[in-house]
Amino acid sequence: MGRVALVTGGSRGIGAAISVALKAAGYAVAANYAGNDEAAAKFTAETGIKTYKWSVADYDACAAGIAQVEADLGPVDVLVNNAGITRDAPFHKMSPDQWRQVIDTNLSGVFNMTHPVWPGMRERKFGRIVTISSINGQKGQFAQANYSAAKAGDIGFTRALAQEGARAGITVNAICPGYIATDMVMAVPEKVRESIVAQIPVGRLGEPEEIARCVVFLASDEAGFITGSTISANGGQFFS
Ligand code: CAA
Repeated sequence: MGRVALVTGGSRGIGAAISVALKAAGYAVAANYAGNDEAAAKFTAETGIKTYKWSVADYDACAAGIAQVEADLGPVDVLVNNAGITRDAPFHKMSPDQWRQVIDTNLSGVFNMTHPVWPGMRERKFGRIVTISSINGQKGQFAQANYSAAKAGDIGFTRALAQEGARAGITVNAICPGYIATDMVMAVPEKVRESIVAQIPVGRLGEPEEIARCVVFLASDEAGFITGSTISANGGQFFS
């Protein structure tokens, strides 16, 4: 039987491309989503990938959702922490709510999802945790003190947990996408987006599939010696 992969935020944007690529690579895939029922139904109709609704910001909901996925498909071998939100604002205008929402989803969500699957991966001596961080967690971004803090936190989480998983056959890695053509980036005001594209040496936004291919590689047996690392896929916009 093929391995089981669970992708958070897996029905739209980068997450949808990851779900589809993992299915094409032979995984039994579950796609989690938080809010957009219509997009999830359309995604399932188009791909045949079942979706599961819960918020990664809620620990108990994550534990219950993962239990449901495991009852349907079997133990989770590959967890892709992709779900993420933005609440951009210059810091002097950023509300405590905007701070909390982004930290709760983009950083605590990674803990909430990884913690329930970790004991099973340790027992089975195999696991792959791939967390989608961001270029803005590496370089910081104007109006994203919340998002940059959370995404930098994801990298620290990855480096710490990689050391704990190594002896148990679990790799823990992060991917830092640059600006990818998704709803999130399209929501940036057009003038700002144009100025961002001007800073990308390859001269274009990335495609979700370009991130999905990195995930498929990190999930594979062939990537077993890669752990605690960060793959940057940003068109040359930032080197770290
Ligand atoms: N660097 C320096 N100054 C900047 C700036 C930047 N990158 N962007 C905006 N500013 C300046 C503006 O020129 C303006 O200056 P003035 O007041 O002198 O005119 C000021 O900051 C903006 O002030 P406003 O009061 O108009 O700001 P606002 O409350 O309307 O907020 C904004 C506007 C939310 C910052 C909007 O410009 C925006 O969304 N910017 C994009 C932020 C961004 O890049 N987010 C990334 C989203 S994609 C993503 O996150 C995915 C990923 O992982 C890569």
